[in-house]
Amino acid sequence: MNPTQIQSATLMYFSPTHTTRKVLRAVAAGMNLDQTTEVNLTSPTSRSNFLPPPPSDLLLLGMPVYEERIPSMVLPLLNRLEGHNRPAVVVAVYGNVGFGIALQEMAAVLTARGFRVVAGAAFIGEHSFSHDQLPLAAGRPDKQDLQTARSFGARVAVKLNRSPELLPDDSPVMPGKLPWMTRILPPNSSTLFARLPELDPEVCTQCNACVRACPTGAIDPESLQIDESACLRCFACVRACYPGARTITLRKKWISYPFLKAQGKRPHRPLLIL
Ligand SMILES: Cc1cc2nc3c(=O)[nH]c(=O)nc-3n(C[C@H](O)[C@H](O)[C@H](O)COP(=O)(O)O)c2cc1C
Repeated sequence: MNPTQIQSATLMYFSPTHTTRKVLRAVAAGMNLDQTTEVNLTSPTSRSNFLPPPPSDLLLLGMPVYEERIPSMVLPLLNRLEGHNRPAVVVAVYGNVGFGIALQEMAAVLTARGFRVVAGAAFIGEHSFSHDQLPLAAGRPDKQDLQTARSFGARVAVKLNRSPELLPDDSPVMPGKLPWMTRILPPNSSTLFARLPELDPEVCTQCNACVRACPTGAIDPESLQIDESACLRCFACVRACYPGARTITLRKKWISYPFLKAQGKRPHRPLLIL
């Protein structure tokens, strides 16, 4: 029998390029749980068919950082959860630029839904825009990050098992702020400085892996054309394309290009809040 009182957890995440899922699974692995259930909110059908999951001892919520916040399409779903005073942990995964107010947003919505947010962490994942000419957090989370995620999970388990009836002030304050650049840019500004993923028809095998990987259903399964207004520029389609028919192109004239290039040179370390 598991010596801990927290025996089951629900891992809930949105993760088009899988780094958030990887980190969240490592956190759960460190907790030595009897049972984990995953609620993957990445595909459009998973979100349209979403039903709040049956309660478990702990909610582990993981989100990638998009423009220093959590992706807006998950908020209506999080607003349907019922915490009933159960503990939750929030994990933001960002591409070495900044995590902005993502942890605060997750903590605020979960607290409003009746969870006790007992811990949080910001981890680094390979940036969606990272490619050969502009490596940005390439290969993250790496071995060391995943080891940190496991020990974070172990520390959360110790905290929860030490005080099963946590007092409200056991909820730590989540750090974060919106940088000035995000404040002045319009919403979805990534669509301004990242082009639509390109497709080389000579290389494409029409396997439709890109169609299945797209978190917004933006790729037409017949023509493989991308609906410009629906594309997030997460480049999940590029990562899913084994023959390498799809590519990432950023607009080099935008100020964001040298900015991102500079960000790639200073690797951040995970931040743990307990
Ligand atoms: C539209 C968009 C906006 C992003 N904004 C940020 C950001 O503000 N800060 C940052 O460090 N990374 C940013 N990223 C990078 C992602 O947070 C990072 O690649 C993350 O690891 C992706 O998670 P996933 O692999 O689970 O999809 C952004 C990515 C996309 C697609």
